[in-house]
Amino acid sequence: MADLSLEVMGLKLKNPIIVGSSSLTSTVESIKKLEMSGAGAVVLKSLFEEQIMNQVYADTVNYTHAETLDYVKYFEEKHIVEKYLKLIKDSKNEIGIPIIASINCNSHGKWVEFAEEIQNSGADAIELNLYNLPSDPKINQHNYMETASKIINDITKHISIPFSMKLSPYSDNLAYDLLRISRTKISGLVLFNRSLNPDIDIKSESLINGHPYSSPGEIVNTLRWTAICSDFLETDLIAATGIHDGEGIIKQILAGAKAVQMVSSLYINSLSAIKESLTNLENWMNEHKYNKLSDFRGKLKRSNVKDPKFYDRVQFIQSIQNNK
Ligand SMILES: Cc1cc2nc3c(=O)[nH]c(=O)nc-3n(C[C@H](O)[C@H](O)[C@H](O)COP(=O)(O)O)c2cc1C
Repeated sequence: MADLSLEVMGLKLKNPIIVGSSSLTSTVESIKKLEMSGAGAVVLKSLFEEQIMNQVYADTVNYTHAETLDYVKYFEEKHIVEKYLKLIKDSKNEIGIPIIASINCNSHGKWVEFAEEIQNSGADAIELNLYNLPSDPKINQHNYMETASKIINDITKHISIPFSMKLSPYSDNLAYDLLRISRTKISGLVLFNRSLNPDIDIKSESLINGHPYSSPGEIVNTLRWTAICSDFLETDLIAATGIHDGEGIIKQILAGAKAVQMVSSLYINSLSAIKESLTNLENWMNEHKYNKLSDFRGKLKRSNVKDPKFYDRVQFIQSIQNNK
């Protein structure tokens, strides 16, 4: 029988499915359901950098009467942060699979120190979601990776548990930057985050939120970068976005991923998608005579294929000629 266990970011997982940060991981009850459904690990719903900073501010400011409204806001935020630490503690008490805390951030700052409290609450690891949309023409993109490096440098002074970064795919120097980041003390890179997208309602001519869930077709961008980056990254690569089933997991491991994150599929297909995906993975491994994940991990990464340029191809000319 195929062995699906693995070690990623120094954590022992019974299988490669990590449920990504979302409302599915926001309460002990929902995490218990994920564990019972077969998940290998979970990333908790994120705490935001701003929420942490509001707590820091609330702890140091003396409020006057005029600031009462602000105080209420800070009190609420403080409550959110305390609730988050309690969620980590309770999850660790009641759940056997690794619990990865998550912080959403977009700048380097004092909030980094808070990671120590997350560690003290018992989290097995921390994922930092460094979100970025390079939409300001006045800001050089270099700032994004510079911020990432500063955060990594600082966080290693405060915690000893493993930590990863979930990054946005928008970077001119993606391969170059990812290699630099992988050479720090980081334990893993999660490629990639999927942002919430805007849409337009043409009836009312107004703005609306785009579809919140990925489709299986969205796997291709991550697949390309998994195959390219797994050749040189000096840290564990965890693939995310568009992985909806066993087939998606197999593809990502063939391309070189250690583990995968799934979110949208569980909303769309229910939690049973975890067991179904694992069964498909196991059956495929048995058919292909693989005993463990490392037997085929990276078999189709860029340096292992006959035509490595396949992964670099971005123009259609060749395929159009072939189709003639
Ligand atoms: C409803 C919902 C809530 C999410 N909340 C968070 C969050 O709090 N923090 C975070 O880092 N990512 C969050 N994400 C992003 C997911 O963790 C994941 O990176 C993204 O959905 C791509 O994976 P998928 O294609 O499997 O959905 C959320 C996604 C969804 C659909």
